Amino acid sequence: MASGDPLVLGIETSCDETGVALVRGNELLFDAVASSMDEHARYGGIIPEVASRAHLEAMVPTIERALAESGCTLAQVDAVAVTAGPGLVGPLTIGASAAKSLALALDRPLYGVNHVIGHAAVDQLVHGEFPERVMALVVSGGHSSLLLVDDVATSVTELGSTLDDAAGEAFDKVGRLLGLPYPGGPHIDRLARQGDPTAIRFPRGLTARKDQAAHADDFSFSGLKTAVARWVETRVDAGEEVPVADVAASFAESVADVLTAKTIAACHRHDVGTLVVGGGFSANSQLREMAAARCAEAGIELRIPPIRFCTDNGAMIAALGSAVVRAGVAPSDLSIGVDSSMPLTTVSV
Ligand code: KG4
Ligand code: ZN
Repeated sequence: MASGDPLVLGIETSCDETGVALVRGNELLFDAVASSMDEHARYGGIIPEVASRAHLEAMVPTIERALAESGCTLAQVDAVAVTAGPGLVGPLTIGASAAKSLALALDRPLYGVNHVIGHAAVDQLVHGEFPERVMALVVSGGHSSLLLVDDVATSVTELGSTLDDAAGEAFDKVGRLLGLPYPGGPHIDRLARQGDPTAIRFPRGLTARKDQAAHADDFSFSGLKTAVARWVETRVDAGEEVPVADVAASFAESVADVLTAKTIAACHRHDVGTLVVGGGFSANSQLREMAAARCAEAGIELRIPPIRFCTDNGAMIAALGSAVVRAGVAPSDLSIGVDSSMPLTTVSV
């Protein structure tokens, strides 16, 4: 890290976390996060209006906390980065408005950046600059994407994504089915550790030979979710007890198996020796364990940042902003909008 690198303030508001972080080069100075998840839990899903209000209320205190804890002043900020998409329009708009106000008042450049690519870029703060070419698997409640990253600031190719549910979304839906609190992902993870992953052979989406041609790098978890629902229903209808831990373990095994098998096959196909895994679902212990074992076997270097960097946060946006600024990419216009379905090939707007 050169001390001459610009100081980038990053703002993330695509979902329920208000994240603000300060990054210089690949060094994180501070990352402040406020979450409105407690307010959504009773609805069993994120309510965009509730999230937007929470962002509006948390924004200035979170910026103030990030500045105070990092020992920086607003005057020292060289550039402002903000999530421009994908995400929820209302929440994105609150972050973009705050970032534009800062950029305008401080007379500093604004960089509207891609949230999903931020989930990969944040790893640079932990494990250092990416090698020339990396594969990134970004898995969360909203996305499951496989990205070929030639340059995180300028050149990202989307190889595939989920055709239906994201991995975390499938966990949350199966969690609901098993009567677990929202979000169900971490609860299934915990239960799965007590069950037998080989107890039930659930389907592996898009792994049949006929799917390989068109969907080698795509994922599908809705068929699996339906298979789990059917399996549980049949037991309940027969008056039998449902072996919840075995169901969780077998389900988690299927998701981890498909994600790791397809990703490693893509690494081989594109001759990539480094895999970065990011997004809230990369907290999943079944995925972490299987990825570690299979990457070691395949001779692929695995980079997964600590869990606090995998869930939505400001550091990922400041990290990507920092990469974009250092690459000399032109700043965004102060009239940019937000894009709820921003293409994953667009790093910055
Ligand atoms: O990245 P994130 O915080 O928010 C989104 O952008 O979606 O990801 C949250 C998602 C939720 O679906 C949650 O259930 C899932 O990640 N998740 C997990 C685990 N921790 C979080 N799923 C399985 N196992 C976990 N340990
Ligand atoms: Zn995310």
